[in-house]
Amino acid sequence: MSEIAKIELDGKIFELPVVTGTENEKAIDISKLRGQSGYITLDRGFKNTGSCTSAITFLDGEKGILRYRGYPIEQLAENASFLEVTYLILRGELPTPVQLKAFEERIDNHTLVHEDMKRFFEAYPAKAHPMGILASMICSMSTFYPESQDPNRSKEAFELSIIRLIAKLPTLAAMVYKNTVRHPFMYPKNDLGYVENFMYMTWGMPTEDYEPDPVVASALNKLLILHADHEQNCSASTVRIVGSSQANLYASVSAGISALWGPLHGGANQAVIEMLEMIQADGGGLDKWIAKAKDKEDPFRLMGFGHRVYKNFDPRATIIKKACDDILEKLGVNDPSLAIAKQLEEVALNDEYFKSRGLYPNVDFYSGIIYKAMGIPTEMFTVMFALGRLPGWIAQWKEMLDNGDPIGRPRQVYTGETVRDFVPLDKR
Ligand code: SDX
Repeated sequence: MSEIAKIELDGKIFELPVVTGTENEKAIDISKLRGQSGYITLDRGFKNTGSCTSAITFLDGEKGILRYRGYPIEQLAENASFLEVTYLILRGELPTPVQLKAFEERIDNHTLVHEDMKRFFEAYPAKAHPMGILASMICSMSTFYPESQDPNRSKEAFELSIIRLIAKLPTLAAMVYKNTVRHPFMYPKNDLGYVENFMYMTWGMPTEDYEPDPVVASALNKLLILHADHEQNCSASTVRIVGSSQANLYASVSAGISALWGPLHGGANQAVIEMLEMIQADGGGLDKWIAKAKDKEDPFRLMGFGHRVYKNFDPRATIIKKACDDILEKLGVNDPSLAIAKQLEEVALNDEYFKSRGLYPNVDFYSGIIYKAMGIPTEMFTVMFALGRLPGWIAQWKEMLDNGDPIGRPRQVYTGETVRDFVPLDKR
């Protein structure tokens, strides 16, 4: 007997079905509420509203749990390659060695981008933000592969559009980096692994041999895995709602990249470093900044702190903080930002304002320090987030289509002027 919820409106009782997930999460299905009662629900920012059912990622904000297709990220980050996790998130199961090899080979065959895409870069201003370029490049892929625009494309064409995106995003991200530092583009070397190939295209130069540093490769692999999906976050929800109109994969992911860019979302990793450098330049004192973060009249927020779901700790931040110590030690980097970050964390975690609101370091708080130690420019940090989040965006988009979810079109409560007659110009 399935559970029901009862709601009384205008003296009438309405019964609504309760949906229970495999982790015993419960939701009231309100899809028939308006038809039965004329009422809709209102939930700014969808803080308490589920947009879909999904089998990709489970997270528990109170317990700090994050699993991709049931596997804890702690185990995946320690033991898997990013492409293994990409396969898992997309297809629902860890690949066998044969499946993984075939997946890697398929991707290797598509790492080059169309030569004409190089000309886009000539038109951008020197200081163009990498995320603005990346979003355009990914949307432009739909013009180079017009078959991706057909909602009724064959299963093979559907799969190929996914493989092309996974294969070409690192190439395009590396081109965006080279454009930022005004260095020549590097072509992919397909005998390298996925992460190592990205490193080669990013830091390699045509005038010298380049061997990817295994320490950096391992840290990058772990960072990309930790960013791979996060259920219905702002950018994944954007990808879903754009894709729900039957817009193609590239246009949908391009919209996700744009949503990720915002400093409240993936852009926070850039904002964290800028904040730490600002505090360092200001003398390193924390009291003023903690006070500003708590002051409602002050727009300053502690970037990298707080999360819509995690109210005790972000399990990714715990792993990244440890990786931060390890890689800075292995690379022999002494970054004062790390010391300031740890002090900031310590002060905030003992401050009632942050504790009472469940504000703890999130995935973006320490990741930028690692990217900086690797020599990645601050404005490229969110591109790195996009590189990691790609499997999640694609899987969420595909699941929305496979589930036959309808076009996303929320309702509203109108609060504007009631009806009034037009006033001719000469009477106003
Ligand atoms: C990501 O959703 C995801 O899964 C995202 C993500 C992913 O993997 O996809 O995890 C990645 O985007 C992580 C978040 C990165 N953003 C930042 O670090 C930016 C700083 N954080 C905040 O702006 C904020 O915490 C959010 C946006 C992350 C969450 O905001 P919510 O859930 O809308 O909460 P809120 O803004 O309503 O804040 C609740 C209270 C408010 O105070 P009161 O009105 O209750 O007095 O907490 C305060 C806020 O003012 N608050 C902060 C704060 N974050 C929240 N105060 C100071 N500094 C902060 N960082």
